[in-house]
Amino acid sequence: MHAAPAPLTARRHGPLRGRLRVPGDKSISHRALILGALTVGETKISGLLEGEDVLNTGKAVQALGAVLERRGAGAWIVRGVGVAGFAEPAAALDFGNSGTGCRLMLGAVAGCPIAATFDGDASLRQRPMRRVLDPLERIGARTLAATEGRLPLTLAGAREPIPIVFEPPVPSAQLKSAVLLAGLAAPGETTVIEAEATRDHTEKMLTHFGADVRVEPHGARGRRVTLGGQPELAPRPIMVPADPSSAAFPLVAALIAPGSEIILEGVMLNPLRAGLIATLQEMGASIERLATRKEGGEEVADLRAQASALHGVEVPAARAPAMIDEYPVLAVAAAFAEGTTVMRGLKELRVKESDRLAGTAALLRANGVAVEIEGDDLIVEGRGHAPGGGFVTTHMDHRIAMSALVMGLASDKPVKIDDGSFIATSFPGFVELMRSLGAELS
Ligand code: S3P
Repeated sequence: MHAAPAPLTARRHGPLRGRLRVPGDKSISHRALILGALTVGETKISGLLEGEDVLNTGKAVQALGAVLERRGAGAWIVRGVGVAGFAEPAAALDFGNSGTGCRLMLGAVAGCPIAATFDGDASLRQRPMRRVLDPLERIGARTLAATEGRLPLTLAGAREPIPIVFEPPVPSAQLKSAVLLAGLAAPGETTVIEAEATRDHTEKMLTHFGADVRVEPHGARGRRVTLGGQPELAPRPIMVPADPSSAAFPLVAALIAPGSEIILEGVMLNPLRAGLIATLQEMGASIERLATRKEGGEEVADLRAQASALHGVEVPAARAPAMIDEYPVLAVAAAFAEGTTVMRGLKELRVKESDRLAGTAALLRANGVAVEIEGDDLIVEGRGHAPGGGFVTTHMDHRIAMSALVMGLASDKPVKIDDGSFIATSFPGFVELMRSLGAELS
């Protein structure tokens, strides 16, 4: 069960100072539980994100027969059932607020000869699943009940999964991953051809567990990913690095709250996730990479961020996949910049935990910032400061909630949100960590 609504207010209160490590990466945490459940043997995970979304994925893999054990903070063991080894669950699988958990597990179940019902909260019940069901039906799964491609739905997995070549119609790592996870159970090669490369955590983790994965360039910005079917996945330890999408919130807060200087430890800098940092640096942000190193197969670094005079930039559509979750908080940074910031190609923001294109514009407008949506582009008129004083409706969206609070830490008047409870889906401890830097949140 999700917690009761929790209104929150953020106010300006001196500079932010200190060091912190944000929780583990959400994308990698989901994949660690799901792929761990498909190995034969015991996978040790450290640094797992213990947010509601990931915990719901954990409950789902347990309902399907895997065994999970928590050994300490972020330290988990998964005993897997092997590729295509999931057992039919006794009850519906509830993914709460999480599109990633739900779509990846649709893929994992599609390759097993079982039926399972998938459900989620009011936000997830509005999100499109047809995009995932289409390729999974080509693989041989059947959708037994789904109203207009929405949850709740029942999926009957394929008895004899067919390997396919799939070109996702939208750039989506969830879609790519669902097809690859289903392809694990098929004989022969499953191929996903992406016109634009998206986060590659599934491919990397499959390789880590011993699957045969080939990744080749495709066109100017795409990739062709080929998976050899029916591997036996061998358990290997997984270290989950700090989530760059969570680090984005204290990072932007430090850039816009005058006099701030913070260090964010061990932030993952996978190039397919690092679009926000590149954009902020183009805007004039002082962000330094200290102690670059490898953690769990990913490049990580400590990031030093200092309050900076930002200026508006144009963010090309081609960068969207590498920062898709970061636009709401980038829009907040843009409000504090001097000049216009144009963010292009944000169509996919309309189908996130809420319509984030509308939600981001509404967040800024409620706080006295001039903003327009033109087609799929978001245009923010920065004035170097923001009036604030607004009340933001978060629509069950954790990132709208955190972005609004970040704005309130630097705006002239406080910013209030209707509900901070969804922050726990991705960033448990957000309020306490921000307070440890000196933020005033109540
Ligand atoms: C994710 C992919 C992205 C992103 C989401 C996490 C993933 O979604 O927005 O937060 O872990 O694969 P899409 O695949 O829908 O773009």
